[in-house]
Parts: sequence; C-alpha cells; structure tokens
Amino acid sequence: MQFGVPELEDLPDVSGASVLVRVDFNVPIIDGRITDDLRITAALPTLNWLTERGAKVTAVTHLGRPKGVPDPRYSVETVRARLAELAPGVTLGENLRFDPGEEANDPEFVARLVAGHDMYVNDAFGASHRSHASIVGPPQTLPSAAGRLLAREVEVLLGVRNDPARPFVAITGGSKVSDKLGVIEALLGVADHLIIGGGMCFTFLAAQGNSIGSSLCEVDLIPTCAALLEEHGERLHLPVDIVGMGPGAKLFDPAAGGEVRNFGTSLPDGWMGVDIGPGTAAEFSDLIADCGTVLWNGPMGVFEDSRFEAGTRVVAEAVAQSRAFSVIGGGDSAAAAAQFGVAGDVDHISTGGGASLELIEQGDLPGLAALRVR
Ligand code: 3PG
Ligand code: MG
Repeated sequence: MQFGVPELEDLPDVSGASVLVRVDFNVPIIDGRITDDLRITAALPTLNWLTERGAKVTAVTHLGRPKGVPDPRYSVETVRARLAELAPGVTLGENLRFDPGEEANDPEFVARLVAGHDMYVNDAFGASHRSHASIVGPPQTLPSAAGRLLAREVEVLLGVRNDPARPFVAITGGSKVSDKLGVIEALLGVADHLIIGGGMCFTFLAAQGNSIGSSLCEVDLIPTCAALLEEHGERLHLPVDIVGMGPGAKLFDPAAGGEVRNFGTSLPDGWMGVDIGPGTAAEFSDLIADCGTVLWNGPMGVFEDSRFEAGTRVVAEAVAQSRAFSVIGGGDSAAAAAQFGVAGDVDHISTGGGASLELIEQGDLPGLAALRVR
C-alpha cells in the first residue's frame, strides 16, 4: 500500500482467479510494426506476477482514438502478437475504445467488462488520467489493486514532486505553452530551476519583448508568460540563442533549400525558430550536470528533423550523464532519449505523457482515486 492505493500483495489469493488487468498498450505502430514496445514490456512484471501465482489473466487496452466504433486501423492484432511472444497465456481483449461506453464511463459497459472476473488490476499508468470505464469502473465492484508499473510510476513521480533531492531542475519543452501551463505552475512551486525550450519558448521570448519572426506563438498567453517571468525571473531559464529556419525552407525537407542560421534571442521576419542554439544547450547542460533531481518533459526543438536535433540531443545527453536522479516524463522526450541512445542511462522513463504531467500537476489521478474506494 502506497499513497492509500492497494498493491498486488493486498489482493485476495489470486490462484485460480480470473483477473482483469487494464494495461496501456497504446504503442506506436508504423506500417504494421511496433516501433517502441516499452509500454508492453513495462507491464510484464505485473502480468508475470499474476500468472506465476496461477491466475487466469485477461488484459485490456485502448489503442489510438477510434471514437467508439470498431475500426480495423486500430485493431489490437499487432499488439496481441507481440504480447503472445512476451507473455504467452495472457489473453488480450479487443480495443476498449471500439465501444462508446469506454470513454463515456457507461455503467453498462463496466458491467460487461467485469463480467466473469474475480479481481481487477490497473497497470495502465499512461491512461490513468482518463476517467474512462476501464480505469474507474471495475474497482467499484471487484477487489482491486495497482500493478507494479502503476505503483512504480507513482512512487517516482510523486517522490520528485513532493520530496526531490535538491537542487531540482525541471526541463519543459514541446510546442504549446497552453498544454503545459498547469505543469509549469506546479513545477515552479517545487523546482529550484525551470528550463523552457521547444516551440513554447517563443511565447516567453515574445513576452520579454523579443521579435520572434514566424515562430510558434500563443499570443493570448503572452501576458501570462510575462507574469510568470516577472514573478520567477531568476529561476526561469529561457534560450539565449536560437536556430532559425529561413523563408522557403521546409521542415523534414532539406531538399527544399532555404537557409538555416543561428541567432540570439530575436529572429527576423519570415524566420522560424526550430531549435535552441549551442550556447543555450551548453548553459542548460551546466544546470543539469549540477543538480540532485532532473525531470525532463518535451523536446528542445524539432528533433525528428536531423538538422534541428542538436539542442534536444545535448539536453538528452546531459540528463543521462547527470549524477542527479533523472526522470523523463514520457512521450516525445522518451522517444528522443531512445533515438540518441541514452535511454539506458536515465533512472526512470515514464510510460505516460499526459498522465505524468497531470500527476505532477495535481498530485493524484482518477485511476488512483478509484483504487482507493474500497
Ligand atoms: C497516451 O498515449 O498518452 C495514453 O495511452 C492515453 O491516450 P489518450 O491521450 O488517447 O487518452
Ligand atoms: Mg543519473
């Protein structure tokens, strides 16, 4: 039991029991191939714990966003084949989101889901910020527990949020300030330093009065960013130089031509900021090298285009090499760490993107609260 949430050991005897396990096997699939199976391998400790003790295990997951109707593009068949290799004997149900009852948290759908099962385990950390039927419904009627993955994610992320080794440096990136505003505010309450890179840095740079050319900018959030800078100035770290892409240049299409150049914090008209510059990457790395905890969420630039990967690569390497307890908050940053070959040197890579942000922001998740009802 941790944070009031029962764990596997708290379940009644599982031998011979039929156990429904909600997993998050929403993995990236390109041309019929799973490109990253972390979310599957990360659930194996729970699935194995149950099967080794003689439970009959049925796993259920969503895959993509099929909008409540069966859609062959979102069939779990590819995932099922991989699971059969990794955990033979575990059954995988069809995509939960083929039924509108899943996202609507329809009690009738919950009843159909739990029928025939004796217990429920939630190991779907990445989906536990959703109040969907398979996440919040089963604990109301079945003896329930958090699986190993869910418990570990919560232990690490709430540990960082509530009691970090200091100094605590948080790094946020990604394209939109609006997606991250809540987490930025929460992090400013606990971190010693907050680094801001990625597309979202341009709204902050604009708030400082810089011209940002045609970079991403959420104009309506400029006053909010200005207020954050005013209040937390010294702890908020913005780029001091930027890589810009000139008129005519296109992302993912070097053949289109156009210029790529380094700038300070101002960009001319028609230029778009696509990465942090080398001076910024070095400054951020110094902060990261010298801390007790580092939490990274969101790339520093358009790292999927190799011309603009340098900033994200340098930050990924700094996170991995830091002596700090290092945590990556899922999604794009986890993909970047894998792309740059440093994932193995990071202490914890979360399997949840939105879920990890919401847990840090709120300190709790609907999926955890549901497990506390009994
Ligand atoms: C994710 O990939 O972030 C989780 O699986 C949740 O998916 P969702 O954002 O479609 O709810
Ligand atoms: Mg380390």
